[in-house]
Amino acid sequence: MVENLDEIFYEINQGYAADFLPFLLPFHTNHLEKMNKLAREVRKFVLEYIIEDRYEALIAEDEPQDYVECLIKEVRYGEDSDFSWNTALFALEDVIGGHCAITNFLVKVLAYLVKEPQIQKKIQEEIDAVTYLGDKKWRGVAISDRNKMPFTEGTIFEAIRMIASAIVPRVSNQDSSVNGYRIKKDTLIFLDNYDLSMSEELWDEPHKFKPDRFIVNGHFVKPNHFLPFGGGRRGCMGYKMVQLVGFGMLTNIMQHFTVLPANFEDYTVPVGSLALPFDTYSFNFVKRGIDIVI
Ligand code: HEM
Repeated sequence: MVENLDEIFYEINQGYAADFLPFLLPFHTNHLEKMNKLAREVRKFVLEYIIEDRYEALIAEDEPQDYVECLIKEVRYGEDSDFSWNTALFALEDVIGGHCAITNFLVKVLAYLVKEPQIQKKIQEEIDAVTYLGDKKWRGVAISDRNKMPFTEGTIFEAIRMIASAIVPRVSNQDSSVNGYRIKKDTLIFLDNYDLSMSEELWDEPHKFKPDRFIVNGHFVKPNHFLPFGGGRRGCMGYKMVQLVGFGMLTNIMQHFTVLPANFEDYTVPVGSLALPFDTYSFNFVKRGIDIVI
């Protein structure tokens, strides 16, 4: 299931012309069939291993215990008759598929760090200073250490800035307006996060990987114009996971290892997308050999 979702995630992030010009879809028939097959297999897995008999078992009086039960309750007993079981399963699969975004993101961060060893060294110095117990011993990193590690946070956000994509489509579900521009119902709209994150007007040397841009007077500060996860009620559902799991994994890797190139690969990370093929960069993890008391 993980491989299927990874493949789907890679494909939907390619930005084919047919995504915006539906009359081109007939040229993608084989491709679409392949995606449908992968998606059907994911659906089978979800029904078999995650839903099992919970759909039938949940009664109207039950207090939902988790996201799955909230969805089931809404479909079976909710007031919105448009909320179908199919929609609920897509909403669930969107969250389950979040692993693709997180793992791709982490691999991209490591690729940046392989190219910028001085940044890696600064992260390790920050981790070592915060987790030092004395007597040449260190504790593991905790999520609560985040606000004591502005440079590491800055690195994570700098990587998020560099991968921000222009392709986040939305469709207006009613007549509306944005900043004085009239938008009719059913209009396809893109929040161009690539432009927001790479604009020469908003950022100094936007194509350079500079975690320090997020640090003001020793503190991590996110500029107001930086909206990598969108916003409002339809903002990214997984943004906390990206920040927390990203921080937890990156700091633990950096505490234990120095990451070096594995061979003579090109570690240039394409900007403006989170997409990575299943087989991607390889890294060499060299143990740092410091005494960590877990
Ligand atoms: C670096 C990683 C990620 C980035 C840059 C990102 C970015 C975004 C953006 C820009 C949106 C559209 C927000 C809007 O229209 O206002 C979005 C929506 C969404 N994201 Fe993420 N995302 C990331 C990771 C994740 C993860 C890990 C998950 C799931 C665990 C996730 C789940 C979702 C879902 C479900 C939506 C749609 C929300 C809705 O339509 O109500 N994302 N994301």
